[in-house]
Amino acid sequence: MRINVVKRAKKYLTPALGWDTELVVRRARGAEVETKTGRKYLDFSCGTATTNIGHCHRKVVSAAKHQLNNLIHAGGVYYYDSIVKLCEELKAITPGAIDMFFFSNAGAEAVEGAMKLAKSVTHRPAVFCFRGAFHGRTLGCVSITSSNVKYRKNYEPLLPSVYRAPFAYCYRCPYGQKRETCSFECIQFIRDVFKHEIDPSQTAAVIFEPIQGEGGYIVPPVEFVKFLRDFTKEHGIMLIADEVQTGFGRTGEWFACDHFGIEPDIIVMAKGIASGFPLSGFGASSKIMKQWTPGAHGTTFGGNPVSCAAAVATIRAIREERMLEHCRELSAEVFGRLRKIQNNHPLIGDVRGLGFMIGVELIDSHGAPHPTATAKVMERCLENGLILINCGTSGNVIRLIPPINISREQLFRGLEIFEEAVQKVSQEEFELAHA
Ligand SMILES: Cc1ncc(COP(=O)(O)O)c(C=O)c1O
Repeated sequence: MRINVVKRAKKYLTPALGWDTELVVRRARGAEVETKTGRKYLDFSCGTATTNIGHCHRKVVSAAKHQLNNLIHAGGVYYYDSIVKLCEELKAITPGAIDMFFFSNAGAEAVEGAMKLAKSVTHRPAVFCFRGAFHGRTLGCVSITSSNVKYRKNYEPLLPSVYRAPFAYCYRCPYGQKRETCSFECIQFIRDVFKHEIDPSQTAAVIFEPIQGEGGYIVPPVEFVKFLRDFTKEHGIMLIADEVQTGFGRTGEWFACDHFGIEPDIIVMAKGIASGFPLSGFGASSKIMKQWTPGAHGTTFGGNPVSCAAAVATIRAIREERMLEHCRELSAEVFGRLRKIQNNHPLIGDVRGLGFMIGVELIDSHGAPHPTATAKVMERCLENGLILINCGTSGNVIRLIPPINISREQLFRGLEIFEEAVQKVSQEEFELAHA
């Protein structure tokens, strides 16, 4: 008996798991997914920022198939080609001196590993992080996550010696300032935490997302990121860049750190690394990595041969098909178009991001977050064949994260659907306010 898949899924899968839509997809290619009923949708979610080069890219599928036919699992018992090739590819594209890697499966696992490396190398206890950050769902990661209290509720006590400062969220500056005239109160706050609460000499790591993802697609000023780099260097603190969401071309560069001109000590990667095959990892210079003793960390499934082959193919496809350049070129046009829509619709408070990591923040007539209108815009888009997901503590930021190799036609077709939805919901909001 074939009962509806969603019904069966709801029967068996824990309600803790959230699903963004009720679509049941039978196949996906590039920027499109096709449901069981045969309807095609443009996918501007990339399976939560993961299929950066589109679904089932030909070169990725072929590399994975080849690896599947030869070796699926090694479990740390024997060596294989694909993991070494991946290290060589990553060394070439990660910032600065990063030339050694550890591979795991999920983003959270890699963040855990990065924190362990920092603690082990520095022999220090504390970790410094940011309000609004999302680093994953293990207990260690939840301890440094604060994009929403729902991730933390019922899990206290969490890791000790975690310190936190507000992120540089200029659109809603925590200090009530305007970017053009502020004195970087956000930086002063960090200095104060290190003056009042935790001595820098006790701090193993500062971990940050170069663009906050779940927290609302927040791009900090260059000065803020440079300060983090300078301060951590001065005090022998490991700077960990969590590039799980920002990596692998998402922002039009290999990594978002490249936009800020900084080199972190440790970089964390996942999501886009293998086009949807489960793989994550972190990298550091061999000078740092070699201070880690054998057995200090490990994994059974991490660095799976098939996932590594898919990752190598992903990186090569990005390079060979000039996807970064494509993304950068189209991104400028997309921002222009979105700003025009913003000018016509006060429902849109802010348009921000880099490359194809774009956030559109929806607000009410008082400037407050507007999650209900956000949900309506996304619903309308879905009705018209465009998949979007949201983020932000109040759920009022729509993410526009199409594949970085999407065609111009598909990209602007998606934007048309988005514009129509904003128009419609704006009209409804107006009617509601004047009813
Ligand atoms: C910046 C960042 N770090 C870590 C994670 C956790 O990754 P995963 O869900 O693969 O554990 C995410 C997931 O959204 C993320 O966006």
